[in-house]
Amino acid sequence: MSLQKAVEASERRDAIVDAVISQKGGVGKSTITVNLAAVLGENTRPNNEGEDAPVVAAGIDPQGSMEKWADRVAEDKLPFDYLSAKGNNDLIPELKKDPLVRRIVVDCPGFMDVDHASVRSKDPLGHGAAADALRALLAVTDRAIVPINPEWLSFDPTEYTIERILKPRGIPFLVVINRWDPRDGEDDLEKVKEWVDKRGYPRAPQPIRKYKIHTNAAEKGLVVTQYQPSGTALRAKEDFYKLALAVDSVSI
Ligand SMILES: Nc1ncnc2c1ncn2[C@@H]1O[C@H](COP(=O)(O)OP(=O)(O)OP(=O)(O)O)[C@@H](O)[C@H]1O
Ligand SMILES: [Mg+2]
Repeated sequence: MSLQKAVEASERRDAIVDAVISQKGGVGKSTITVNLAAVLGENTRPNNEGEDAPVVAAGIDPQGSMEKWADRVAEDKLPFDYLSAKGNNDLIPELKKDPLVRRIVVDCPGFMDVDHASVRSKDPLGHGAAADALRALLAVTDRAIVPINPEWLSFDPTEYTIERILKPRGIPFLVVINRWDPRDGEDDLEKVKEWVDKRGYPRAPQPIRKYKIHTNAAEKGLVVTQYQPSGTALRAKEDFYKLALAVDSVSI
């Protein structure tokens, strides 16, 4: 962050908005949103003594997937607040100005209806409720987190998200490899790392490993900070702590 920006931010005390975004469905946007919010929630001090953890996980999916997740959650046990901004495009810009909020992690819709045929200089987000929600979000986004899986099918949508949606808006971003299965060996991991690095995209140094515990937890409405102690739980948590550090090392 430049000195001027840092001074402005401390004067305004605006919350930092991190958007978890990819044009590809199922890469782990929702998983990353809630678990990153959990780790941040446990490690972010409120602006004022005695207040709750000032971290919010928000969903802008017009289909309200954050609500579906929230149905399964023991709300009072979460180290963050969550909300669905479904249909209200002013909610996140307003929340950013809320003096009690420090961080907002936003889960973007699973399906981004982009116009591949649009010329490069044009916004490919198209029309519709999801596109409008995304545009409103991106206008106040400080940083983007772009999940990629170690499968070539997720490579092109990653590039499209970065080149056509983030770069034209000047939004700093971090690519994070998600759902790497250590049992598959290092080959797939090296391939995706090489692909990301060749394009000069900033990348989280450590991938988020694929653990069944994450998939099961999603069903039960649990986040990584609530996992029952075990070796796997420790490694699963470690991945998200490292992600939080990597995210915060990207200047905004
Ligand atoms: N690191 C991981 N380890 C194991 N399972 C994972 C991991 N990341 C995501 N998953 C599982 O993969 C599936 C897709 O993940 P998730 O729902 O987070 O993706 P998404 O990008 O939000 O999908 P959509 O585009 O449909 O909104 C879920 O079943 C989730 O539990
Ligand atoms: Mg999702």
